[in-house]
Amino acid sequence: MAVNDCLLDQVAAGYASRFGAPPRHIVRAPGRVNLIGEHTDYNDGFVLPMAIDRATWIALGPRADRRVCLHSLDYGETASFDLEDLRKGEKSWIEYPKGVAWALQSSGLSLRGWEGVAMCDVPMGAGLSSSAAFELATARAFAVASDFEWDAPRMALLCQKAENQWVGVNCGVMDQMISAVGKEGHAVLIDCRDRSTQSVALPAGAVVAVMDTATRRGLVDSAYNERRAQCEAAAGVFGVPALRDVKMTAFLAREENMDPVVRRRARHVISEIQRTLDAVEAMKSGDSAELGRLMNQSHDSLRDDFEVSSLELNAMVDAARRMPGCFGARMTGAGFGGCAVALVRSDVVEAFVEGVGASYKLATGLEPKIYICEAGNGASLEDNRSYRTYATYSPHSPIAPRGE
Ligand code: GLA
Repeated sequence: MAVNDCLLDQVAAGYASRFGAPPRHIVRAPGRVNLIGEHTDYNDGFVLPMAIDRATWIALGPRADRRVCLHSLDYGETASFDLEDLRKGEKSWIEYPKGVAWALQSSGLSLRGWEGVAMCDVPMGAGLSSSAAFELATARAFAVASDFEWDAPRMALLCQKAENQWVGVNCGVMDQMISAVGKEGHAVLIDCRDRSTQSVALPAGAVVAVMDTATRRGLVDSAYNERRAQCEAAAGVFGVPALRDVKMTAFLAREENMDPVVRRRARHVISEIQRTLDAVEAMKSGDSAELGRLMNQSHDSLRDDFEVSSLELNAMVDAARRMPGCFGARMTGAGFGGCAVALVRSDVVEAFVEGVGASYKLATGLEPKIYICEAGNGASLEDNRSYRTYATYSPHSPIAPRGE
């Protein structure tokens, strides 16, 4: 995978110029795009995301005391906290590493202090899990600084706990899990009930395009919590712990007596869980056309039954589907804004990027960003990679700042 050496150099140089010595360690953790299996993780279902070749990087060195001092090149700010006295602060980027420290300590791990410089090229708020990337990168930094074993799934669960209980976002386990266990060239099927994972190779001759609508919706959290509650209500109708336990036949036998909204939400989740399993079969037999068809169905279900799409996401998906060589396209992530994802024949990808960009702009007046993403590895220690410590960080560096 093409690791972004540019970010590696930036954090290494940023560390050297700030702390006067090369960093002792460099860690990274990726963002993700979900191919299929949307709003299924908190229903104990299956998801099929891949880690992308965009990540949060941290260069770090040890400290003698038990403080963590972190400089963010994206925000141009330095913040610190004391591991012996963790307190929630106002909404700020430092709450992510602080929350991770809290979750790790609450699981019994003993942490040492460190100082570091962080930078991220996962677009923020775009539905590509920049926060999970930041959490897992911090956890990886704590593991190497405190010398404890890196257990990827366990770290993912602790980072999810940080996001749920410290940051206060009630997400499922998908984002942290894929940022921890991602595998180069593969998507990963995650069983969100027992947290087992299975890598599935991406089909040959196809690429994954991530298409940012350039829209961000503020009300995602409340709508997300509302969807979760509706799914719980639906599981209650069937007397089961989660919608994972309801087969389509059982749903069809009962649906007429259900509240119409709860019924639509349940139909999405139950059908999406099956589509995700079917998508794995399609990938295993190298059937991009079938995988694309399932992605299209997923979008339609998210749009009509789960009602988490938006005009812009629909416009992007429509633009993608009209292009020759597009196997399928759908919104990805929580919804209401952010990104869509498409599976595209690799030999037509340039025309695809140009064509989708132009027609989306025409339809919405917005300037989209389209990334062709490779599937990368999960959170890692990058100490063996060489970097240019002589380069000094300049605030006018060519790296796109977070959020762009
Ligand atoms: C967000 C959450 C995930 C998942 C998706 C929807 O990304 O963080 O846990 O629920 O939405 O599939």
